[in-house]
Amino acid sequence: MAKFVVEQSAPLRGEVTVSGSKNAVLPIMAATILTGEPCEINDVPHLKDVDVMCAILRAMGGKIQEDWTNHTLRIDNSGINTSEAPSDLVQKMRASFFILGPLLARTGRASIALPGGCTIGNRPIDLHNKGLRQLGAVIRVEQGRVDAMIERYKGALVYLDFPSVGATENIMMAATLARGVTTIENAAEEPEIVDLANFLNKMGAKIKGAGTDTIRIEGVEKLHGTHHAVIPDRIETGTFMVAAAITRGDILIKNSVPDHVRPVIAKLMECGAVVNDEVEGLRVRGDLRQLTATNIKTLPYPGFPTDMQAIFMSLLTTVEGESTVIETVFENRFMHATELCRMGANIEVDGRKATIPGDIYRLKGTRVISTDLRAGAALVLAGLIAEGTTEVTEIYHIERGYENFVEKLQGLGAKIERVEDE
Ligand code: UD1
Repeated sequence: MAKFVVEQSAPLRGEVTVSGSKNAVLPIMAATILTGEPCEINDVPHLKDVDVMCAILRAMGGKIQEDWTNHTLRIDNSGINTSEAPSDLVQKMRASFFILGPLLARTGRASIALPGGCTIGNRPIDLHNKGLRQLGAVIRVEQGRVDAMIERYKGALVYLDFPSVGATENIMMAATLARGVTTIENAAEEPEIVDLANFLNKMGAKIKGAGTDTIRIEGVEKLHGTHHAVIPDRIETGTFMVAAAITRGDILIKNSVPDHVRPVIAKLMECGAVVNDEVEGLRVRGDLRQLTATNIKTLPYPGFPTDMQAIFMSLLTTVEGESTVIETVFENRFMHATELCRMGANIEVDGRKATIPGDIYRLKGTRVISTDLRAGAALVLAGLIAEGTTEVTEIYHIERGYENFVEKLQGLGAKIERVEDE
């Protein structure tokens, strides 16, 4: 098993270029199931999760040409000849559940293993199913599988009890080929939803309102092939923003969309970091002022992203004063707090609230576990400022979601190595 060995590093300085968004590309890849014509996707990050989605499409009869020099995938799903997704692959990644909607729309049936639990919360699928049922699907969830069939496939009004990102995406994809109009109310508004809607509209779908809480989808007969460049990853952007602040460094983050990271900018500025929207990218400086405490509450977009919570918590352990973090999106997303405490942080967790006393000299290197993707990134950043050596294990989580993380950090002066654990 590989691990990252991180040494206390000098302030990070220089430029870094953000990759395409993981959470945008995965549903877009699933959406290619909606057409038998070839699609080309550009700015694709080469990540483990993308490899899993490629393997799923191939196992179902899709043909994919991977061109990693140009970060391009050419997907031809004309050969999809099954309604059943391969269970072993689906169980590897929760995002594989995105194929439910498109597969149902394409073949009238879909049979998929349940994505299962996950360390950050129990992550149910009731909202996905509720929406698809309203479009006319008959769905049975039994013995770890979801079996769905469309009897009368018709547009409908779907109200989501919570603005779930995945449910909004699954329902939006399925609705593109339904007869009549579907309206999703209390829809998620994340930039990845807008990117998916843009891709679907290029395929010939008629979607309006993506990026607001009401999305209207007028069903069409058929979708066609297209090409599309994926948006930059806003969580990777946020990660490097925090890397600049936590190491009291100065980083220019290229290929970033400031509008997608507004809450992260606001909170970093509240802490005393300086953030400028320059021609070439976002420049974040943590070296100009003493950084101080702030309070965070995670919310659906455009609120503070839950995916940035762990990463920001690492920063808060190093600033002057006491901060609080409230997690409202997932019920069990404080596992990194335990690991940060092993590094000397004195974080108190009470239900969904964490209280974090900060001090720049607080963290000390030790061996910590990357319990999930963003927790792992948080520990790597903490390792850069901690005294001594930090070993981050179970890094396969991190490699699911960050392209060339080690190389990018090294390019900014970080002392980090990937080593095979004995
Ligand atoms: C997506 C992102 C993930 C991010 C999350 C919230 C992808 C691949 N992943 O995950 O990185 O952390 O959005 O921004 O895009 N819920 C239900 N019933 C459902 C579906 C969700 O109760 O049917 C609940 C979940 O348990 C959770 C909340 O809704 O508490 C948010 O989940 P959701 O927005 O669906 O997240 P994902 O789409 O799984």
